[in-house]
Amino acid sequence: MFNFLKKKQVITGTGSFPVTTDIHSHILPGIDDGSPDIETSLKLIKGLYDLGIRKCIATPHIIGDLYPNTPATINAALSITKQACIDAGINMELSAAAEYMLDDHFMRLLQQGLPLLTLHDNLVLTEIPYTAPPYDLDEMAFNIITGGYKPVLAHPERYYYFHRNLNEYHRLKELGFHLQVNLLSLTGYYGKPVAKAAKYILDKGLASLVGTDLHHGRHLSALSDGGNIGILNKYVGGKGFNELGKF
Ligand SMILES: [Fe+2]
Repeated sequence: MFNFLKKKQVITGTGSFPVTTDIHSHILPGIDDGSPDIETSLKLIKGLYDLGIRKCIATPHIIGDLYPNTPATINAALSITKQACIDAGINMELSAAAEYMLDDHFMRLLQQGLPLLTLHDNLVLTEIPYTAPPYDLDEMAFNIITGGYKPVLAHPERYYYFHRNLNEYHRLKELGFHLQVNLLSLTGYYGKPVAKAAKYILDKGLASLVGTDLHHGRHLSALSDGGNIGILNKYVGGKGFNELGKF
């Protein structure tokens, strides 16, 4: 069943992967647009392990009208995946949080005061729509922070409406967001404008975290490409990203 696990990962370039902890991925089976089944989950997790990742925080989407995940659905998928990793001999430290869309559903969860799933302590991973920013993003940030959390905004470089004015990234920091850049953004995987914005965020010292945002095998192939690993090391290597104890 797990024959693919025997294939050796071939990394053609030089240099090791720039982080050993991944804080953003969609590797739990069947609960969002990431891995559809446990076999794929194992393949993705083994791929991350072969890159040098040893601690992996799965962050399934929670989007009110699309992926209404709860701690129960996420923890059930986590348990299955942890056991499958043990059975397959993959020694990955695996945990789960979530990637919360900043929608009405999220604001209701916050108002109800139920504990949110966090990356570490009170660090909560969030995303916003790709089409347009929430009109009340300032108020949302204020409510998250006064609710006792530190918001992390996932892949700010992928929101095209921020590209017109790169000062928006400084404003997001002023609102209290930690910024998490997707590693593949730096390689041009999502296109040149996204790569440019990602490099701007890193060059200006605005990023606190980086992530694979791993959904499928194509992401894994791109992350495993030797040339891409060289780019990642140039921008991210040796800079202390993803050391969660610092937050
Ligand atoms: Fe994601």
